[in-house]
Amino acid sequence: MPAWTKDSLSEPWPRNHNIRLAAPDVYDAAVEADGRNVLERHRPLGVVDQYGEKNRKAGTNGVYEPDGGGEEPRANGHVERREDVSSNWRERLQAGTSCVSVRDVKKSSPDYKILHPMNHAFARYVLPVAESEIKEQDWPGKEKDGKTYKAEASDECTERGADKENVDEKKGDDDQRKQSEGPELPEEQRAFLDQLLAEMHMVESFKNNPAEPKDDLKSLDSDALQQLESRLSIDDQSTPDSWIPRSSGLLRLTGKHPLNAEANLFELFRAGLITPTKLHYVRNHASVPQLSWETHRLSVFSEPEGLISIPKDWTMDELASGDYKIIEIPVTFGCDGNRRKEMNMVKKTSAFNFSGASVSTCLWRGVLVRDILLASGLQDQPDEERWYLNFEGADEPSEGAYATSIPLMHAMNPANDVMLVFGQNGRVLHPDHGYPLRIIIPGYVGGRQVKWLRKLWVTKEPNRSHYHIWDNRVVPSFIESRDHPLAGPFFHHESTACNEQALQSVIVKPEHGERISLAEKGSLDGTYTVEGYAFNGGGDRIDRVELSLDGGKTWLWCIRRFTDAPLRNGEKYWAWIFWRCEVKVRELVDAQEIIVRAQDCKKNYQPEHMTWNMMGMMNNCWYRVRPKIVQDPNTSFPAVEFQQPVAPGNDEGGWMEPPKDEQEDTESKSDDLKTFSLEEIAKHNNQDDAWIILDNKVYDVTSVLGWHPGGANAILPYAGKATVDVTNEYKGIHDAYANGKKDECLIGKLSEDGVKAMQDDAVRAAKELAKVKEERKGMALQPDVFTQAKLVKRSEVSPDTRLYTFKLPNKSDGSHGVLGLPIGRHVQISVHFKDQAVLRSYTPTRPMLPSEEDGTFDLLVKTYYPSEGAPFPPGGTLSNYLDCMDDGEEIDIRGPIGGITYNGSGDFDIEGKHYHFDKVNLVAGGSGLTPHWQFIHAVLSDPNDKTCISLLDSNKSFDDILLREELQKYADENPDRFKLCHVLSIEPKDKNFKYIIGRLNKDIMREHFHPAGDAVGTLLCGPPGLIEKGALPGLQELGFKEGESVFGY
Ligand code: HEM
Repeated sequence: MPAWTKDSLSEPWPRNHNIRLAAPDVYDAAVEADGRNVLERHRPLGVVDQYGEKNRKAGTNGVYEPDGGGEEPRANGHVERREDVSSNWRERLQAGTSCVSVRDVKKSSPDYKILHPMNHAFARYVLPVAESEIKEQDWPGKEKDGKTYKAEASDECTERGADKENVDEKKGDDDQRKQSEGPELPEEQRAFLDQLLAEMHMVESFKNNPAEPKDDLKSLDSDALQQLESRLSIDDQSTPDSWIPRSSGLLRLTGKHPLNAEANLFELFRAGLITPTKLHYVRNHASVPQLSWETHRLSVFSEPEGLISIPKDWTMDELASGDYKIIEIPVTFGCDGNRRKEMNMVKKTSAFNFSGASVSTCLWRGVLVRDILLASGLQDQPDEERWYLNFEGADEPSEGAYATSIPLMHAMNPANDVMLVFGQNGRVLHPDHGYPLRIIIPGYVGGRQVKWLRKLWVTKEPNRSHYHIWDNRVVPSFIESRDHPLAGPFFHHESTACNEQALQSVIVKPEHGERISLAEKGSLDGTYTVEGYAFNGGGDRIDRVELSLDGGKTWLWCIRRFTDAPLRNGEKYWAWIFWRCEVKVRELVDAQEIIVRAQDCKKNYQPEHMTWNMMGMMNNCWYRVRPKIVQDPNTSFPAVEFQQPVAPGNDEGGWMEPPKDEQEDTESKSDDLKTFSLEEIAKHNNQDDAWIILDNKVYDVTSVLGWHPGGANAILPYAGKATVDVTNEYKGIHDAYANGKKDECLIGKLSEDGVKAMQDDAVRAAKELAKVKEERKGMALQPDVFTQAKLVKRSEVSPDTRLYTFKLPNKSDGSHGVLGLPIGRHVQISVHFKDQAVLRSYTPTRPMLPSEEDGTFDLLVKTYYPSEGAPFPPGGTLSNYLDCMDDGEEIDIRGPIGGITYNGSGDFDIEGKHYHFDKVNLVAGGSGLTPHWQFIHAVLSDPNDKTCISLLDSNKSFDDILLREELQKYADENPDRFKLCHVLSIEPKDKNFKYIIGRLNKDIMREHFHPAGDAVGTLLCGPPGLIEKGALPGLQELGFKEGESVFGY
């Protein structure tokens, strides 16, 4: 019965079996027989069997002599000296110091079969020497090279032996020198030899990694930017993951939500042997659970009860307290769907396109699960039973909790380093990687590394949850769908489960589309370094990586590079290696393919061919990159261009082509379908009525939302939207079954105009985004990501209005952040609610000009408190949120938002068109003043700007007027350029204050505004009632035209 305590976990070897143990003196005899002391280290100390006494008696000095003789007369009548017999015959033979006879060997080589017939049932006795070895010694009188040696005294024989020793020593030195210096080796080979020897010595020098973390976990401050993306992507804003910073370096493979993503293969490799957290591949089945270190609990128990005697809910602090040994080690794991995109090119599997980049390596920090189970009173597992360790995450995928199990024995073996981790690359776990707690089973596939771990329990049966059975399996190729009659048994079959990772190697460089110019004379003679990664399961070392340029007939040796301290527990290598191999450009040009394969320490190779399986799991066949000669479009000279098997992410391309049936499918039967315009489709954009466009066809997917395995949130962002991307994303994920279901939802096709508009829009949007991003490099406000800003100060401007000061993150060079908001534009603020982000646009009141940038910005916000009597009783969501924030809390900002930009001197860009106004009227209501304030400030701060402004600022009461004193000051100082008039509903107490009582109307505007005419424009910002009822109708009557001389912010 295995007991889990340290002393008894590994029972003393050997256990109960029929093999007999040899007595100590038999070991001694074996030493002699072998001529070396090789058995010593295998000898179990103090083990004496029934033969021990007898045999000890039989020989002296540890020599075993089966027939009981101690000293035996020599053939020549002398008694053989003890030292001769016991002396090491193999050494003597090798050294040539004295000649060794068959007798010497035989006498020193017992026939163990006589002693232990059971142990040698099939064995034959073998004398451990070759006859030629005996004969070819320099026996006295032997003829050599046609000369006869005269019989020599044994002393002389020894002398000659001594000479020979010297000669041998010299030869050995030379050999080594030859090996390392190799004067006669060609230069290239010598260089290779140097690398090989360096690699050899490096591997030999590996010490066991004690895995002690060097320091405490670090905070997520700005120096973490190399590791972590701090900004939020707009792609996540309408999903429950809106709060998770994700790098744009991750290529999304399954649309916006849930996140399934990998880095570009080359970028992943370039980032180094330890993958920065932000580039670690992500496999999520649902929204990321919103957990916190302080409140999260890990429930440890057993089913049935009693296998664990102290079931308990563990806090994170308890786990990470240091009461249990904390280790930190580099571990590589990949999705079992790594390289599935290649398989999808042969025939679509049921899953999406992970290329060879869905594998990563981080430094994972945590406690051994074994220690926590022992502390929880894990009982001894009876020998004949199989117990399992189950894990469950806190996410909520469509098919129930994500749970799985592994054999308990595996987790309890300390050599396997199965850990509960709470640290990743020196910081707490990233939310996409399981914050605050996940299991890491080194050597296992990603599918078993359960994230957001909330339950850990011991059972006598393997896990039966949906994801344990129906995911992470390699079923036989003839099971093409879950409808196959044998699918059930195979998905339940223990041997189809993916646990240990498969031996894998991938060529990263040349990357997809890389070109080597052949324009230069001699370029074919240049060298190129092919590079890539390789990893394995079970902690088995990658012993060899080989490259073939002739279809696998011959193989080149690649030099390996390991992580720091890669060796654990004496023999385990949990992390990947990088490899490289230098080849001539000419060889690449001549090659049909560049092929890589790895060999593990069991001398297993990767298979040559892929075996398709319906889930697209564990593809580890030879990785092939193809060169082809092209004309370089930049230089018109010839170049060799490389194609990886598949292009990164969901991009099309690569030398593998999608299956024919998939290409044809898009063209099928669309003639008789009803046609819909984009405007019509846009109306069907919600949970109760959702239409999507795939391949220019229109699908009513409302009925799918309720059962969709990817969750309703995966589809909803595309409902009513015309986006070309969704088609690629859909195709990457779905199999024939899903396509069948999709066909049931087909209701029509997109009109030709719609198709063109959608395609044009996609091209325009991509170009626009790239341009804006280029222009805004180094600024905090970016169009596609949200930047974090920290509340550092708040002041009460009035009972319901606050001035909030936020600090921007510093730039990567340490200098203060720059908002970079053009005059007239807004900042989009995002705060995160459980289901999605809440977004509102505000215009900061500072900084407005580049000279005012100091790394902070001010928001002047009026709080619309909840009030039962108010027109909108819940009050303003964001204004109340802001009002409740504590200093140090953060919001996210994006921008610039809005279609009006003021470029100075009366020049405006409005919705992409240029306008010039010499005179500008402004209608403001409440906090709608802020964009106008920006404009006023810009004009009046520039003495050369002669634009004349007239502002009608409409508020309920005197106290509601924002920036009252500042406005008045500007009006007083610039009477020619700035006219100000307040319109109030409630009479102010201050009788000196200039105002108009009433509601904004045509007459007020006629009296105060510049009349309509050439180069006179009016800008509006305020509540809908003021703009639509008060301002617009009056302005129209006064001769202003919407879209020409009237524009709303
Ligand atoms: C007619 C519309 C759709 C149907 C009938 C449908 C059906 C399905 C089915 C059957 C699966 C399970 C595939 C499997 O695991 O074998 C699935 C998964 C999924 N679908 Fe859809 N789907 C539709 C539209 C979409 C769209 C528009 C998206 C967004 C791009 C999407 C995103 C996903 C995601 C993310 C998964 C989960 C992938 C995973 O985690 O393995 N689906 N869908």
